[in-house]
Amino acid sequence: MSGSYLEATRRSGKLFERAKKVFAGGVNHNARFYQPYPLFVNKAKAQHIWDADGNRYTDYWMGHMALILGHSPKPVVDALRGQISHGTHYGMGSSLSVELAEEVQKSVPCAEMMRFCNTGAEATMYLVRLARGYTGKRTVIKMAGGWHGYNTELNKGVHRPFDKSESAGILEEEQAFVKNVRFNDLEAAERAVREAAEDTALIFLEPVLGAGGCVPAEPDYLRGLRELADKHGVLLAFDEIITGFRVSLGGAQGFYGVTPDLASFGKVAGGGLPLGLVAGRKEIVSLADPNRKERFVSIGGGTFSENPLSMAAGLATVRHLRRHAGSVYPELDKAGRDAREAVDRAFAEEGVVAHTTGLGSLFLTHFGVDPKNAEESAGGDKKARLDYCLELMSKGIFILPGHPGGISTCHTPQDLKELAEQSGKFAARLAKKR
Ligand SMILES: Cc1ncc(COP(=O)(O)O)c(C=O)c1O
Repeated sequence: MSGSYLEATRRSGKLFERAKKVFAGGVNHNARFYQPYPLFVNKAKAQHIWDADGNRYTDYWMGHMALILGHSPKPVVDALRGQISHGTHYGMGSSLSVELAEEVQKSVPCAEMMRFCNTGAEATMYLVRLARGYTGKRTVIKMAGGWHGYNTELNKGVHRPFDKSESAGILEEEQAFVKNVRFNDLEAAERAVREAAEDTALIFLEPVLGAGGCVPAEPDYLRGLRELADKHGVLLAFDEIITGFRVSLGGAQGFYGVTPDLASFGKVAGGGLPLGLVAGRKEIVSLADPNRKERFVSIGGGTFSENPLSMAAGLATVRHLRRHAGSVYPELDKAGRDAREAVDRAFAEEGVVAHTTGLGSLFLTHFGVDPKNAEESAGGDKKARLDYCLELMSKGIFILPGHPGGISTCHTPQDLKELAEQSGKFAARLAKKR
């Protein structure tokens, strides 16, 4: 792309004007909007996307972090081509769903049993229901800044002031048993559990806070939460919708070596097609068996659960990851570490205070802060962050402003070098202005 964002993305601008007339706010996910208007994408392949004006970008948003093998990787395209002529939806189980579940079971420590659904929000909703059904208790402790999808109950305290509902139209009563505590703060979790020990069903968190700033849990924190949960008879669950199959084959639980009782998955596990998954200890997930004599926990998935296209794409992806785990994850870890360090160095050389957080292939650059939790992340300079992302876009690099970037197996060392170089150029201009 050459020229300014407005000049180079005129068609996206026009599409946004039309989109505003049909979609509230012109978007179908709040995260997709940024000023002055978001790009509209026409095409994607490997590590690239092309916008409506034909500009090509090296893409680090990667389908909302759902793509780890890049856009339209061969194993997924072949699987989908084969499947599409055998039916796009059965509304019944198939060998594909059993095979994908078996692959998940072999990969993820806590996944003794599971259920498929279609989105991450559904998976987290079912997870909470299972936890309450199993424990007979009500309170859910989540993290300030923790995002678990547009799930009614958990849509609380994602943004400042971190203890209020995110939305009009949600009753206070619906979130009355959801408490937010500070991430990476074991004492805060301990206090919350002690306050309601008799009634706490679950501690639920993203092991890498995503929307809350791409902040990884400190290893002792997760171990501490595991001990805390065990001590008080509370369940521990990880939302692995970002980290699952991304930070290791076994997700964050594999990476940190801390096994939760339940976990939610989506994104990478669906290979770029819609998928949600709730997994966990058999004793808990089997409560959803409708043939139980006792009252069962009624969870979905719904009309499109185990849709064969999602199953085929997920299976092709997870199989590929299992076969190549020995090279994929060390390479992605190195790429992520190198990228975070190179970007930070580029800013430091110009005297700009910026810190890139993340884990494995995930990264997010913060201006003015080096956050350990969502409160600190929210204190960063948002204008600098938007300017940085728009500037990168004008140089052909796409990071969705304010959101983590995800490196895929298609990104090359040259792509990452370019990211660091363009960060350095932006840093130099920013330093001059200040
Ligand atoms: C950690 C986390 N949980 C849950 C969700 C919700 O998933 P979905 O958008 O598929 O409903 C997301 C989506 O971004 C997420 O990042």
